[in-house]
Amino acid sequence: MKETLTDQSGSAACSVLSCKQGKRARAGIRWSVLVLALSACEASLPRPVASDAARLGGNFAGSSVADLEQGRTLYSSRCGSCHALRAPATETPDAWRVEVHEMRSKKGVHLSDDEERRITAYLVSISSR
Ligand code: HEC
Repeated sequence: MKETLTDQSGSAACSVLSCKQGKRARAGIRWSVLVLALSACEASLPRPVASDAARLGGNFAGSSVADLEQGRTLYSSRCGSCHALRAPATETPDAWRVEVHEMRSKKGVHLSDDEERRITAYLVSISSR
């Protein structure tokens, strides 16, 4: 009767140390900085702006900021369940194209063509800033 475990609240959207860690980060500041460099929670994912959309060419030419926002949301909701979300800047645009596709083709991540496209456009646009 005395023990109420309150620490059950790990948020599913953010399977990442950097977020959960935030509360009790006393001795962990250096660690959090390190982890943040490698992973991200939705709140820390950069928001796309007009210049990000304008910079996209090739397959992604014509993407709007709203498209990229959707990509950001999809990235956060679909890509963080098995492993931490990587900050977009940690991979090159070309690497993101390959990675997103491979998650789908090799890791069995279910995405429609449109979802893959939006997620990739978001990651490519931010990583090419
Ligand atoms: C079904 C589980 C699952 C989901 C969902 C998932 N991944 Fe992965 N991902 C994996 C596995 C397994 C690996 C390989 C892990 C490893 O090598 O440590 C991986 C590795 C990666 C890597 C690192 C590859 C490397 O060479 O270092 C990146 C980047 C990545 N995933 C991006 C994504 C993106 C983007 C999404 C969303 C489209 C996503 N993942 C969704 C399972 C998943």
